[in-house]
Amino acid sequence: MNEHALPTYVGLMGWPVAHSRSPAMHNAAFRALGLNWHYLLLPVAPDDVGDAVRGIRALRFAGCNITVPHKQAVVPFLDEMTPTAHTVGAVNTIINRDGRLIGENTDATGFLRALREAGVDPTGQCALVVGAGGAARAVVYALLQAGATVWLTNRTQARAEALAETMQAVGRGVSRVLPFEREAVQTALEAATLLVNATSVGMHPHTNAVPLPDGVRLLPHLTVNDLVYVPRQTRLLRLAAEVGARTIDGVGMLLHQGAAAFELWTGQAAPLDVMRSALEATLA
Ligand code: ATR
Repeated sequence: MNEHALPTYVGLMGWPVAHSRSPAMHNAAFRALGLNWHYLLLPVAPDDVGDAVRGIRALRFAGCNITVPHKQAVVPFLDEMTPTAHTVGAVNTIINRDGRLIGENTDATGFLRALREAGVDPTGQCALVVGAGGAARAVVYALLQAGATVWLTNRTQARAEALAETMQAVGRGVSRVLPFEREAVQTALEAATLLVNATSVGMHPHTNAVPLPDGVRLLPHLTVNDLVYVPRQTRLLRLAAEVGARTIDGVGMLLHQGAAAFELWTGQAAPLDVMRSALEATLA
C-alpha cells in the first residue's frame, strides 16, 4: 500500500482528556479542507509520558497537543523548544518535523489573536492578570511581548513572584506583583485597562466563584477577559457586563490556540469559521 494514501494522525495527550473540545474543532477543520487527517484523544498516565512522546515519532504522528498535567513533563523528551515554549516553560503543541520533535506553546499566540480579534490591542495597555499557573504564564508572556504593562496577582503570592522572576527579560517584565487583597486589587483596577482571569476560578461546577478578593468592584472603563470557557458566561463576566465593562469570553483563546497548532502541523491556513462553529456546538 502506498503510505501517502494513509491517514495522518494528531491528537491530544493528557490525563484525563475525555472532556476535550479539540477533536470536534480539528476534525471539522480537516474535513473542511479535504485532508485525510484525524485528531485522536490520547489518555496518557503520568508514568507513561516519555513512552507516549517517543510514540509520536514511532507512529509518525504529525504532532500532538499536550494538556494537563503533562505540559511541563514532556519537555525532557523533545528535541527542540521554540523560544516561546522555553520562556513560558510549558508545551501545548508538539510538531513532528521528520522525526524531530519540536515543543511549542500556542496558548500565548492564541491569547493575543483572540484579544485582537475582539478589537483589543494590548500594546501600551496596562493589564492586571490574575493567576500564576500555566495559563497565566502564557498570558503574561504574550502581553509583555506585545508591549503591555503587566501587573500580576494570585492567591498564592509566592507563585506570582516566581512567575514574574522568569519573565524579567520579556518586554519590560512584570511591573508589579500585588497582594491578593481588596484594597491593592481595587486600586490596580482603577489604573489598569485590561483584566484577565487566568485562574480556573468560576469554571464548572464552581460557577458562583469570582477570581478576585471579596469586595472588589469592577469598573466601566475595563475590558475583562475571562479565559474560563465552561461556562462561557462566567460570574466575573456577568458582573463586568453589569457595570458596563467590555467582556471577552474564553472561547476565542481556545479557538486560536487550536488554529495556531493546526497551521503548524498542516502548513495550511486554519478554517477559523468552521473551527469556531464546531467549538461552539460543543459548548452549546
Ligand atoms: P493552569 O495551568 O490551568 O493555569 P494551575 O497551575 O493549577 O492551572 O493554576 C491554577 C490557578 O488558579 C492558580 O493561579 C491558582 O492559584 P494558586 O496559585 O494560589 O493555587 C488559581 N486558583 C485555583 N483555585 C483558586 C481559588 N479557589 N481561589 C483563588 N485562586 C485559585
